[in-house]
Amino acid sequence: MSLKGKKILLGVGGGIAAYKSCELLRRLTERGADVHVVLTPSAQQFVTALTFQALSQHPVHTDLFNLTEESEMSHIKLADEADLLLIAPATADLIAKLAHGMANDLLTTVALVARAPVYFAPSMNVNMWEKDVVQDNVKTLLSRGYRMVEPAEGYLACGWEGKGRLAEPEVILAAVERHFSGAGAAKKKSLAGRKVLINAGPTREFLDPVRFLSNPSSGKMGFALAEAARRRGAEVTLVAGPVALPTPEGVRRIDVVSSAEMREVCEKHFPKADLFIGTAAVGDFAPAMALPQKLKKNGRALRLELQPTTDILLSLGKAKRKGQVLVGFAAETEALVSNAKEKLKKKNLDLIVANDVSQRDIGFAGEDNCVTLIDRGGNATPLEKMPKAAVAERILDAVEKLV
Ligand code: C5P
Repeated sequence: MSLKGKKILLGVGGGIAAYKSCELLRRLTERGADVHVVLTPSAQQFVTALTFQALSQHPVHTDLFNLTEESEMSHIKLADEADLLLIAPATADLIAKLAHGMANDLLTTVALVARAPVYFAPSMNVNMWEKDVVQDNVKTLLSRGYRMVEPAEGYLACGWEGKGRLAEPEVILAAVERHFSGAGAAKKKSLAGRKVLINAGPTREFLDPVRFLSNPSSGKMGFALAEAARRRGAEVTLVAGPVALPTPEGVRRIDVVSSAEMREVCEKHFPKADLFIGTAAVGDFAPAMALPQKLKKNGRALRLELQPTTDILLSLGKAKRKGQVLVGFAAETEALVSNAKEKLKKKNLDLIVANDVSQRDIGFAGEDNCVTLIDRGGNATPLEKMPKAAVAERILDAVEKLV
C-alpha cells in the first residue's frame, strides 16, 4: 500500500532496538511516507541523528530547547502536522512518561501536544515487560486510545529469552498500513449513534444476609469493552455486578448484585440496544431460599438446596429482533472451539468469544486474555495473548461489521 502524502512522526526511544527503527524508517519512506524523526536524548546513545537524517531526508529533531530548530519547525508544528505518531522502540521509561503525561524532552512534549493517533511498539527486557508497573502503564495508554504494536517473543539483546523484542519492522509497517487503509482511521467514531449494552463482573447469590455464592470475575473485560465502545462513539450502558473498578468516562453504569437483578436490568434495556455483549460471569445457581436472618451454626453439616438461575444470554437470544447483535463469552477448560460453537448456536449469538480458562494468567481476574473469536458461520479466529484493552478492540473490530 502506498503511504504517499502521509506525514508520520517517528519517535525513537533509547533502547538497543533503536537500530531497527532505521530499517522501519527506510520502509516507510520507500512507500512514500513523509517521515520526520524525533530522537530522545538516550536514543542518541544508540544511533546517530545523521543516519535518520540521511534516510528521512529531513533534519532530525532532538532538542526541546534548540532555538534554530524552534524557528524552523516548532514542536507544536511538528505535532500538529503529523497524521500519525509512531513511537518505536518505546522503552519502559518512555511508556511511563507517556502514561503520566510527562513532557520533559522533545518526544514526550510532542506526544502530549499531538492530536494525531499514537502507535507505540514496546521493546525491553522480559522481566521489565512483565512488571506490574509497566503493564499498568501500557494499560493506561491503551485505555487512552494509544495503539500498541505488541512486542515479540524470542532472544533478547540482554541475553534473556522471552517477550520484549521490538516487533519486526514489517509488522510495525503493517500496523501503519492497516491504520491508513481505514481499519484504524475509521475506528474513532465507528459506533456513533449505536446503543451498546454490556454486562460485566460476577453476581452474588445470597444465602442469608451475610453469606453468598459468587466467583472471582473482576469485570475487567467488560469494562474494557465499555470503554472501547464509548471511544468509538457508542452510547454505552454497563450493567455491573460487584466489582472494584472505576466507571469508564462517558459510560452509563448500573450496579446490580444478584443474577436476578442483572437479568431484570439487561432485559429492560435490551429492546433499545443495537448490540449486547455478555461478559458477566453470571451465577448459574442460587440458593432456593434466601434466609432473612443470619443462619446460626450448630456444629452440624448443612445441606443447601440450589436452583438454576435464568441464563440471561439465552433469554436475550430468544427475544432478539432483526438487526440486533448478540455477543457472548465462553470460558472453557476443554474442546474450546466445539463447545463454544455449540453455545453460539444454542443462545442464538452472532459472535462468541471463547477462552481457555485452564491456562494460567488469563481470563477471569487476569490482566491479559487469550481468546478465539467464532462467528455464526463457524469461522474461528484465534488471537494471541494480549491485554484485555487490546482484546476489546479486536472484538469490536469483528462486531462492527455486524451492527
Ligand atoms: O453457558 P455458559 O455459562 O458457559 O455461557 C457463558 C455466556 O453466557 C457468557 O456470555 C455469560 O455472560 C452468559 N451467561 C448468562 N447468564 C447465565 C450464565 C451465563 O448470560 N446465567
